[in-house]
Amino acid sequence: MSADRSILITGATGLLGRDVLVRLLAADSRLRAFVLVRDMGRWLQAAQALAHQSRVIPVCGDLCADGLGLTPDARAAIRRDVSAIVHLAADTTFSSPLDRARTVNTLGTQRVLELAHDCDTPARVAYVSTAFVAGRRTGVIAEDLHATSSGWVNAYEQSKYEAERLVMEQAASWVILRSSTVVCDDVAGHVTQMNAVHRALNLYRHGLVAMMPGVVGSNVDAVTTSFVADGIARLALRDDAAGKVVHLCAGEGALPLVELLDITYERWAANPAWRKRGIVRPVITDLATYSLFERTIADIGDASLKRIAGALSHFVPQLALPKRFETTNAEALLGRGAPPVRDFWLPMLDHMLTAQSAASPFAKVA
Ligand SMILES: NC(=O)c1ccc[n+]([C@@H]2O[C@H](COP(=O)([O-])OP(=O)(O)OC[C@H]3O[C@@H](n4cnc5c(N)ncnc54)[C@H](OP(=O)(O)O)[C@@H]3O)[C@@H](O)[C@H]2O)c1
Repeated sequence: MSADRSILITGATGLLGRDVLVRLLAADSRLRAFVLVRDMGRWLQAAQALAHQSRVIPVCGDLCADGLGLTPDARAAIRRDVSAIVHLAADTTFSSPLDRARTVNTLGTQRVLELAHDCDTPARVAYVSTAFVAGRRTGVIAEDLHATSSGWVNAYEQSKYEAERLVMEQAASWVILRSSTVVCDDVAGHVTQMNAVHRALNLYRHGLVAMMPGVVGSNVDAVTTSFVADGIARLALRDDAAGKVVHLCAGEGALPLVELLDITYERWAANPAWRKRGIVRPVITDLATYSLFERTIADIGDASLKRIAGALSHFVPQLALPKRFETTNAEALLGRGAPPVRDFWLPMLDHMLTAQSAASPFAKVA
């Protein structure tokens, strides 16, 4: 195999990682990629349909293990060959407790940084983060915002923020690529992987939640897998992105919450069977009122309702913390912005309705 450049990619079995890997390999026929995988059997199965397989070297490892759990041979090969690490692997569960989120996301990133430092030529680290490291902060969120004293809505946000700090302090060269919430694969609205947003939409569609936190001026920022994966693949290795934080977000293309609810409920109401059920829209409330609502559910003691409220509590409060993500670096480096949420929200809802109509709203509350 002749190759000019080798990289290591983590999280290549995940939603974004597999797309990023394919894009990186397609963009450079002389690139080869080590991929860190937890389960070799699962990887081999997933990789069957992977293009450019001959330039992929899977290595067993785990962010939670000392030295990433790499064998001495694998570590030596990575140290010798790798010039950049694209780090996507993470515990992406919003409900994880802080110690669990930190173990995977913060300490795991520390181990990735140690490996980058140990490489014969210290490796560039492209760290894939979330725009919601901004936590409870409101207003315009600048890409160069590196500090927050406002706290976070969940431990995932906090652990990713802490990991960003480590990357900035320790990597010889870095770029931080902060994604907004991915809700579908592309502007055609296909949904490969359901997440907390889809589960929340299902709960509201079934009329199971009477309130939604929000304020006038709340926007919903969301993106497609293809936009984010393209951005990561194009910027991870680029010299002019070094030392920059980049928001892969809708930014100005975010949709006002009220408009999003209007078009969502109109779409659902197009189905006569749904209309017949007389489901009413949730009342938009401030966070204090929403907390009272959560407490009432806790007092009632119904296990299903508690699970529903618990699942929402890990991220819906963001709707009442209005923010707009600045995307100056992204637009300058990529030459374009993200597709506006308006372009893919309804196709995404249609896809969900087709794929999920038979599913119980209780089935996937995590
Ligand atoms: N998707 C979004 O909406 C979104 C938004 C903002 C930021 N991000 C960021 O983008 C990155 C990728 O997200 P995603 O949605 O593609 O995630 P995902 O689908 O949940 O995949 C997570 C990946 O991380 C790997 N992983 C988890 N724990 C690991 C461990 N202990 N050791 C090694 N690998 C481990 C998983 O491997 P297994 O196959 O072994 O489980 C999987 O490949 C994450 O850093 C996330 O924070 C995502």
